[in-house]
Amino acid sequence: MLDLLHRPRRLRRTPALRTMVRQTSLQARNLIYPLFVHEGARNESIGSMPGCQRWCLDALGDEVGRAWDLGIRCVVLFPKVADGLKSEDGAECFNEGGLIPRAIRRLKAEHPAMAIMTDVALDPYSSDGHDGIVSPEGVVLNDETVEILCQQALAQARAGADLIGPSDMMDGRVEAIRTCLDDEGFTDVGIISYTAKYSSAYYGPFRDALDSAPRASTGKPIPSNKNTYQMDPANSSEAITEAQLDEDEGADILMVKPGLAYLDIVAKLKENSHLPIAAYNVSGEFAMVKAAAERGWIDERQVVLETLLCFRRAGADLILTYHAPDGAAWLQEG
Ligand code: PBG
Repeated sequence: MLDLLHRPRRLRRTPALRTMVRQTSLQARNLIYPLFVHEGARNESIGSMPGCQRWCLDALGDEVGRAWDLGIRCVVLFPKVADGLKSEDGAECFNEGGLIPRAIRRLKAEHPAMAIMTDVALDPYSSDGHDGIVSPEGVVLNDETVEILCQQALAQARAGADLIGPSDMMDGRVEAIRTCLDDEGFTDVGIISYTAKYSSAYYGPFRDALDSAPRASTGKPIPSNKNTYQMDPANSSEAITEAQLDEDEGADILMVKPGLAYLDIVAKLKENSHLPIAAYNVSGEFAMVKAAAERGWIDERQVVLETLLCFRRAGADLILTYHAPDGAAWLQEG
């Protein structure tokens, strides 16, 4: 017999004891469900994101209704924009008759209680595949881009969005969008800011889904990555700088992205801010789980529920995840 005073295993002995001392919980209301939409008449599957679709507007409402019944209370919409509508300044992003405003209006009519979040950035609408306007010299322009982002946010708010999500990483965009929304009377529309968004290879499948990767289509030099605006994965305290700026500029929720490799940043923001913290379990993280599960190398259900719980443990109040409906269904099964 070891002469031990402390035996931490005592509190792990039975399910009842383990439940009593469990520190973190995961519920469907913690999940935000990202959905891709397109103009087509049918849903299209996405090769690198098994189980995800580009939803046609006719089928979108039923999927959102299903999510609601599973306990999910927020969806975020991403558009696959036809090539013919893309331009260098991405002006389609503020077309009030465009895909996203129409999708929002329809969902608000069919499921008025579901919170709708949007993404604000030019990449799905940009013929250059960047989140901002690219100058003839190949520089992603900050202030000129922010003006367009404000128009985009306004079009989304007019359609009925509850939460505007700037994902572009231009400086000063949160304050500019807040002011613009307020001036137009949308004082109650919130901003969930992609505060610490890193320049990451984990976004690959998302860019496939929207066909939105940076590309050179004109003679203009187009940067092949987003390193001049998205953050360097090597940096940590810079996330606090971004968080302080977004708080000061009027953000309601702060987000970290990607998620799994950046849980230290989630924890840091949680410690340094009293705002709700969100984390984005991005497309590449989803694809890795799906690929391994398809091969029978991991148990998908257990890995997903563990992963989502760990986001909560790190400090995420909210998790954007493509696993949302499966996760919520598994939580309901208990
Ligand atoms: C657009 C945007 C991206 C994602 C969300 N909004 C891609 C990017 O910045 O290149 C990625 C989401 C994911 O990978 O799941 N600015």
